[in-house]
Amino acid sequence: MSNGLTMDTLVSLCKRRGFVFQSSEIYGGLSSAWDYGPLGVELKKNIQEFWWKEMTRLHDNIVGLDAAIMMHPRVWEASGHVENFTDPLVDCKNCKQRFREDKLPEENVAAKKCPECGGPLTDSRRFNLMFKTFMGPIEDGGNLVYLRPETAQGIYVNFKNVVQTSRVKIPFGIAQVGKAFRNEITTKNFIFRTCEFEQMEMQFFIAPEEDDKWFEYWKNERWEYYKKLGIRQDKLRFHQHGPGELAHYAKVAFDIEYEFPMGWQELEGIHNRTDYDLSRHAEFSGKDMAYLEDVTNKKFTPYIIETSAGLTRTVLTVLSDAYEEQKIDDEDTRVVMHFHPSIAPVKLGVFPLVKKDGLAEIAQKVEEELRGDFATFYDHGGAIGRRYRRQDEAGTPYCITIDYQTKDDNTVTLRYRDSMEQVRVKIAEIPDFIRKADKAYRREEK
Ligand code: GAP
Repeated sequence: MSNGLTMDTLVSLCKRRGFVFQSSEIYGGLSSAWDYGPLGVELKKNIQEFWWKEMTRLHDNIVGLDAAIMMHPRVWEASGHVENFTDPLVDCKNCKQRFREDKLPEENVAAKKCPECGGPLTDSRRFNLMFKTFMGPIEDGGNLVYLRPETAQGIYVNFKNVVQTSRVKIPFGIAQVGKAFRNEITTKNFIFRTCEFEQMEMQFFIAPEEDDKWFEYWKNERWEYYKKLGIRQDKLRFHQHGPGELAHYAKVAFDIEYEFPMGWQELEGIHNRTDYDLSRHAEFSGKDMAYLEDVTNKKFTPYIIETSAGLTRTVLTVLSDAYEEQKIDDEDTRVVMHFHPSIAPVKLGVFPLVKKDGLAEIAQKVEEELRGDFATFYDHGGAIGRRYRRQDEAGTPYCITIDYQTKDDNTVTLRYRDSMEQVRVKIAEIPDFIRKADKAYRREEK
């Protein structure tokens, strides 16, 4: 548990406020598939944009890419996924439930005993996680394609295209955000592990002898990134993969873990993939994937340092981290989502104090003027206190209220979400005021 938050509370808040809905709910739902509602889609897009800016625009040596989800099936033979991308599965002979052996308590594995009913478990067998489908009208092996289980391979197979067209020189990176698919067996815990999800990956191509240096660099950068995203430091930690945990392509791997409501779990992986991927693609495609350094005329296959974050998993992290049930006094509590202002789904709530006396018209006009600068939300329904509370729950960092004084001096009340402090601001100065407040933002809790 973090912030005393349970997953059930979070799931119910997400449904109630329109962050995340169960997929196909009217048909009883599809397990492990989730839809992002009006607030959720804004939050997800804002996180994606934040990552994109941090990982491409703020670096002069990282470029972007958007590769297709379906790729030539040989890609997945070369990458090692056809052979190695498997989970060990066991079945209970009694209750027929299926489990990932590596996620079972040790005592159940040792005794081959079902964790649910105590029945006997089968021997473990390997199960490939890739989704298969067929391209074209005939469903046979010749038309088999996979839905990509990671976005990374789209980057590797385009390595030469990017080098030849973008004037990049090693060291440089290629970044990509997109959907990935895995036929996961253990999918509880809301949007933590789903069969369809989104990744934000950056592959950094380097000279082989510089791998330790760049690995440390990216480990550090990615930690700093989560700080900037507003995630509380004491909820983050590194976990180094032991020899038994390393993926088939990795020489060294560190996870950044977050303390979710169900405990510490991986949020992002940072991997030294060596020259494994480019060498394998050279071997399987017969194409030269080496890099020619123009100054030295040295030819080599670059090593790759990968930073691989889950976008949908970051949404869960941000939601878990933002949640606070705050006691105001003996009779009053509020739920407040402390999103960092740069990713909040709504930046600014705009309210008239009351609907009458022309205040609603002024508020609507102010809201329309601010739309171009910020994600705004106009609301005139119910008492002003209730409107503030609704925006606290949506994580809106600032609300402004147009009142009778506005008519006299063109000022509004601006209320901060975290401190609930109120200040007077001139209408014309709101955009500047908010930009400055965003920059100065530090999370405050009661
Ligand atoms: N390209 C390397 C790679 O895919 P990974 O550790 O398998 O590495 C990277 O995945 C990240 O993708 C994870 O840290 C997690 O955030 C996210 N991820 C992986 N599987 C996921 C799933 N089934 N559902 C949601 N996110 C997932």
